Amino acid sequence: MKLWGGRFTKETDQLVNNFNASISFDQKFYKQDINGSIAHVKMLAKQGILSEDDKTAIIGGLEGILRDIDNGTLVIDDEYEDIHSFVEATLTERIGEPGKRLHTGRSRNDQVALDMKLYTRDEIVEIDELIKELLDVLIDIMEKNTETFMPGFTHLQKAQPITLAHHIGAYFEMFKRDRQRLADIYKRMNYCPLGSGALAGTTYPLDREYTAELLSFYGATLNSMDSVADRDYVIELLSALSTVMMHLSRFSEEIIIWNSNEYKFVEIDDAYSTGSSIMPQKKNPDIAELVRGKTGRVYGALMSILTTMKGIPLAYNKDMQEDKELTFDAFDTVKGCVSLFTGMIKTMTFNNQVMENSAKHGFTNATDAADYLVNHGVPFRDAHGIVGQLVLYCIDKNIALDDMSLDEFKAISPVFEDDIYDAISIKTCVDKRVTIGAPGKAAMDKVISINKKYLAENPGIK
Ligand code: ARG
Repeated sequence: MKLWGGRFTKETDQLVNNFNASISFDQKFYKQDINGSIAHVKMLAKQGILSEDDKTAIIGGLEGILRDIDNGTLVIDDEYEDIHSFVEATLTERIGEPGKRLHTGRSRNDQVALDMKLYTRDEIVEIDELIKELLDVLIDIMEKNTETFMPGFTHLQKAQPITLAHHIGAYFEMFKRDRQRLADIYKRMNYCPLGSGALAGTTYPLDREYTAELLSFYGATLNSMDSVADRDYVIELLSALSTVMMHLSRFSEEIIIWNSNEYKFVEIDDAYSTGSSIMPQKKNPDIAELVRGKTGRVYGALMSILTTMKGIPLAYNKDMQEDKELTFDAFDTVKGCVSLFTGMIKTMTFNNQVMENSAKHGFTNATDAADYLVNHGVPFRDAHGIVGQLVLYCIDKNIALDDMSLDEFKAISPVFEDDIYDAISIKTCVDKRVTIGAPGKAAMDKVISINKKYLAENPGIK
């Protein structure tokens, strides 16, 4: 059954039907479609466009359809063009004449614009919740590890000592911004397109603000052409989700490195690792690799919708049906990745001693040795050169700066005294970095308490 056909004299070619249909993927928003219709019908009755009896019959019918799809007794029939046609036809089949009045004052163009918005809005809330759970796990690790020393890297070369809390804290900030982006998008998109008709509104006295309120929107959209043609919010969201994936992917990459035999900074739990079919000794970080790999799919969805939207004239065009499949896939991908990643991090073991030893070897305290000289009156550029000589000497002897005797220090610069050992101990190096944002314990404790407050004040969107 089609929603149109009156002006046609021939059956549509079957291949055309197949090519045109969206029901295989838009059935994902049957709930939103039905809830949107219920709000529409309530508004029509309030405005006297539909009788109270028709309203009661239609709402009863729609609620029954929703219930039956939910519990599996009504199967969505792929023979229909889209979910809108299926719901309307099933309604009319079930309740007769009043079902045919459901679509009064509405077009599939504003209907699908609404469904997509409702679905997207629900997904934002869900994804935000999942990222919040990840942040809860991260803050927990941070609190426990303000004195777990490890090397900080630049160019993947050991640079300066930091703490595990500080390193994890960097990701905390990234995912916090990701949540803020989601909240911003929600605020901008949360206006109701229903009542925009095909493109030019309708001649019925609709109360658009009322429908908007029933569906928990802030209000009605202000231009009917824009309302049916706008998919900016999908683009913004896919962009924000691409950034989430980029962050997850970087973090995954680090975990893969840290979990390697060469680093051994962490050990991924058995429950989150996989084996090899041929090499019995292997325990592979497949989850982290898959998260890194799936990032490409989400970027792909963003590129696809940007390209789809770039050349279409106002208002609705069928091209826009392409907004769904890859977008839905991206939502599912992000949700899967965030939850799996959270589980992996939560169960991962950190090898604190290995990290600390790694920070001790590799001259991460060289900058602090130079700062020691500066504090004793040596110009920084000269201090840099002197410590360079110390490093060269240590490399030659295969020792760390801390292993040098005072005589050896003095042989390179007489400025060194006994207190050099304390000045270049890993703990001192970290704890002296007390400006906000730095790894020193005092600064880190402050940041942790700011972020705990943020989590308590931002439990979720809405
Ligand atoms: N399946 C269509 C879509 O996803 C629904 C809107 C159809 N509107 C139309 N004028 N053909 O965009």
